Amino acid sequence: MFADKDISKFNNIETPFYYYDTDLLQKTLHTCADAAAPYHFHIHYALKANFNSVLLNQIKEIGFGADCVSAGEVRRAVEVGFDHKKIVFAGVGKSDKEINEALDLDIFCFNVESIQELEVLNELAAAKGKVAQVAIRINPNVDAHTHHNITTGLDENKFGINSWDLPECAETLKASPNLKFIGIHFHIGSQITNLDVYKNLCVRVNEFAAWFEDKGFNLKVLNVGGGLGIDYYNPDHQIPDFESYFKIFNEFLTVKPGQEVHFELGRALVGQSASLITRALYIKKGKKKNFVVLDAGMTELMRPALYQAYHKIENLSQISNLKSQTSVKYDIVGPICESTDCFGKEVEQPESFRGDIFAIRSAGAYGEVMASKYNLRDAIRSVYSNEI
Ligand code: LLP
Repeated sequence: MFADKDISKFNNIETPFYYYDTDLLQKTLHTCADAAAPYHFHIHYALKANFNSVLLNQIKEIGFGADCVSAGEVRRAVEVGFDHKKIVFAGVGKSDKEINEALDLDIFCFNVESIQELEVLNELAAAKGKVAQVAIRINPNVDAHTHHNITTGLDENKFGINSWDLPECAETLKASPNLKFIGIHFHIGSQITNLDVYKNLCVRVNEFAAWFEDKGFNLKVLNVGGGLGIDYYNPDHQIPDFESYFKIFNEFLTVKPGQEVHFELGRALVGQSASLITRALYIKKGKKKNFVVLDAGMTELMRPALYQAYHKIENLSQISNLKSQTSVKYDIVGPICESTDCFGKEVEQPESFRGDIFAIRSAGAYGEVMASKYNLRDAIRSVYSNEI
C-alpha cells in the first residue's frame, strides 16, 4: 500500500490523519460486486463501518444500497444520493423521531428488532397514512466465533426477536394494517473469519423462512446481514474472499423463485482501504519498557483500547529509508490520559525516532467513525490517495 512516493508526500501533511486508498476501495467494491453478480445477491453497505462521504460516493456509484442504524445515517445516505428505495433502517433502539424521519423519506425497509417496535412503527405509519415495509430481525442463536464484544446472534445478546416470540410477532404483523411484512433479517456478528459459521446461519435462515411460509406469509427478502472479516495481521491481503463467502450462501440457503437475498457488509468493503497516519512525538526508553508516544491515540482509533483489537503498526520512515537496522520492542501508545490508550504492547519495530511517521493499518472500518473528542482533541482529518 505504501510506496516511497506516498511517504515523502506524508512529510508535508500535518498528522494525525486517516489516509484513504481510493483505488483499493474501488478494486474491493468491484471484486465484491462481481462475486455477488452471478447469484443476483443484493448488497447494502453498512454505513456504521464508515460514513465518510467520499467513500459513500464510490459505494453508491457501484450500485450498492445503504444499511443505516440512525436517522443521521439515513440522512447521510440520502444526501450522498443513495436511492431511497435501497435504504434500510436497522437498529435495536430507533426513536419515534427517527422512525418518523425515515417514514418521510420513504425508505425501502425497516429492520425491526422487537414486537413493541412493530406496534410503534404501525402507529407512526398510520398517523402519516403510510404503509411501512418491514423485515423482522431474528436472533438465530448462532455462535459467530468472533470477539465476544462483537457477537450479536446469541440468546444472551440484545439484538433481534427471539424464536420463542415469533408466534406473537406473527400475530402482531397480521394485526398491523400499516406494516407490510417483506422478509426476515439476521446478523450474527462481525469480523467473522471462519466461513463455516455462515453455513450454520443458512440452516437457521431456512428453518425460520419455512416457519413463516407455513403461517401463510410470503417472504420477498432474506437478509443475512454482514460480518465478513478482514486480515488484520496481513493487511496486504487487501481484498477479502468474497467469492467463497457468497458461494456458501448460494449452496446452503434455500431461495424460492422471486425471493431476494440481501447482505449488509461493512468492514469487508472498507476495512483495508485506510491507515491511520501518525507521527512519533517522543521515544521514552525505560529499564523495562520502551515507549513510542504517537500523536494519535484512542480518540482517533478506539478499537485497540475497546476490544484489544490488533492493528498492524509500521514505522514508515524507517521502512522507507532503512535509517536503522536495529529492532527494538516498544509499547506503542497515544497521548490520551488513559492506560488503555495503547495500540500495541512489545511490538517489534526498527529503532524509532522522534518525528518518524507510523501507519496503523486496516483502519478503514470502525476507525474514523468511532473517533471521540475526549481530552478535547482536534477532529481527525482525512486525506485521499487520489488527491496527493
Ligand atoms: N448489519 C448489522 C445489523 C450490524 O449490526 C452490523 C455491524 C453490520 C451489518 C455490519 O457488520 P460488518 O460487515 O461490518 O462486520 N465496532 C466493532 C464492530 C461492530 C459491528 C456492529 N455491527 C469493531 O470495531 O470491530
